[in-house]
Amino acid sequence: MTGGPLAGLFLTLEGIDGSGKSTQARLLADALRAQGREVLLTREPGGSPGAEEIRRLVLTGDPGRWSAETEILLFTAARRDHLEKTIEPALARGAVVICDRFADSTRIYQGATRGDLRAKVDTLHDLMIGRDPDLTLILDMDPDAALSRGLARETDEDRFETFGLAFQQGVRRSFLDLAATYADRCVVVPAQGDPADVAARIAPIVQARL
Ligand code: TYD
Repeated sequence: MTGGPLAGLFLTLEGIDGSGKSTQARLLADALRAQGREVLLTREPGGSPGAEEIRRLVLTGDPGRWSAETEILLFTAARRDHLEKTIEPALARGAVVICDRFADSTRIYQGATRGDLRAKVDTLHDLMIGRDPDLTLILDMDPDAALSRGLARETDEDRFETFGLAFQQGVRRSFLDLAATYADRCVVVPAQGDPADVAARIAPIVQARL
């Protein structure tokens, strides 16, 4: 591709609630823009008008109103819209897409925390999404520290954060297992400490894939 247009790169950040994904996504976007790259910074659930509507359905209101199976459908519906309307057009332009959570969150939150629904998540993903990121950064930290950070934020989107410490510990383990399963695209990044230090851990990992 010498002299040709830059290829797009699809990058996702994953991790437990409060692990600092959104901050790191922003810092990474700033750094890549400073290098002259077009960056699309987006998040799930959401990232397109239709997907933001679905976000409101899943993250606000009575936490018990959806079964895990219904949540799989809602998150996947939101993802399909996000992919069609936002992610794929940006990648086609050669942008770096940085997405705060993606299908790995469904694999874990819907696939592993309320019974073993992983096979259903994976089947629906293959059928309706059919795309995985080029690189997934798994921000790993102690749930005790992450939980206090996550709950400190004033938000009505507390659907998952209120499940507590044991829940977050299970999610952390599941993310580490997932990183081992998808070792070709996943890199585990220690996420404790100053945001600038975490960003400095992330930068060389991303540069190597550009
Ligand atoms: P988010 O707004 O990213 O919260 P945070 O900044 O704390 O990461 O995500 C909200 C919640 O949605 C989060 O607890 C994880 C959950 N979630 C799922 O359960 N399944 C999914 O597929 C996605 C994308 C998110």
